[in-house]
Amino acid sequence: MKPYHHGKDLPNVHLPSLEHIPFLKGQKALVTGANSGIGKGVAIGLAHAGADVVVNYVVGDDEAQKVVEEIKSECSGVRAIAIRADISKEEDVKSMFSKMIDEFGTIDILINNAGLQRDAPIDEMTLEQWNTVIGVNLTGQFLCAREAIREFKKRGVNPEVSCAAGKIIHMSSVHEVIPWAGHVNYAASKGGVMLLMKSLAQECAPYRIRVNSICPGAIQTPINTNAWSTEEALKELLTLIPYNRIGKPEDISNVAVWLASDFSDYINGTSIFVDGGMTLYPGFAAGG
Ligand code: BGC
Repeated sequence: MKPYHHGKDLPNVHLPSLEHIPFLKGQKALVTGANSGIGKGVAIGLAHAGADVVVNYVVGDDEAQKVVEEIKSECSGVRAIAIRADISKEEDVKSMFSKMIDEFGTIDILINNAGLQRDAPIDEMTLEQWNTVIGVNLTGQFLCAREAIREFKKRGVNPEVSCAAGKIIHMSSVHEVIPWAGHVNYAASKGGVMLLMKSLAQECAPYRIRVNSICPGAIQTPINTNAWSTEEALKELLTLIPYNRIGKPEDISNVAVWLASDFSDYINGTSIFVDGGMTLYPGFAAGG
């Protein structure tokens, strides 16, 4: 058998989905940056698994509203609301959490997803580009985690809902371990997320709070359009992915749903790479 290549000779596979298995029923989830890309996919995935969902966004009211409508129409009995907040701002984060708690009563699952890129070679990178990326990708994850943990600790475990008092899933990246020239702000933010996650997991485990990360590789979303939108770019991208296909938001949401559920109750402080093998040093497959 020959290895498969992306494109014509790749069989048309359908990812299974955890839809309609309501193992998150009754849980309240907040997904930051849920109006597009991975966040949108995860919000919809959690709702299909029965969770009520807050769709956070900072720009794009219409897109956020569409995600809410999609959830309401596809997932009967599930509640969804959109809340605007810039997660890099402490006041916005506090007010988002108090709105969520007013509406839903509590939070059980935080998907710390919102993130962005402001790429530039180091000698051209402005302090603003650096601060924007660190502000959203790292400080934003800290601010949201802190508010969620305050509520988890206040409430404790409700055994009718989950074995844990709360679950936090950080959306990190393969770039928490793969250095990325031309993207030092982004790579530094994700390296930071790795030890933010592990330190929180260590600190909060005694309270039955689970903290883990998902590290996506190249997932087909607006953040990396230039890596997949032309045939040439896609071909080059695939040299970095042993599994030879670009990822889809469902690849991430399937893992997020499971990681937020009690099926993964003994997993704490772990980075799960969902990357088609991008972290396997693909250059060494034929060299070294
Ligand atoms: C980045 C994408 C990139 C991927 C793999 C992600 O974290 O946001 O732009 O395609 O890593 O390099």
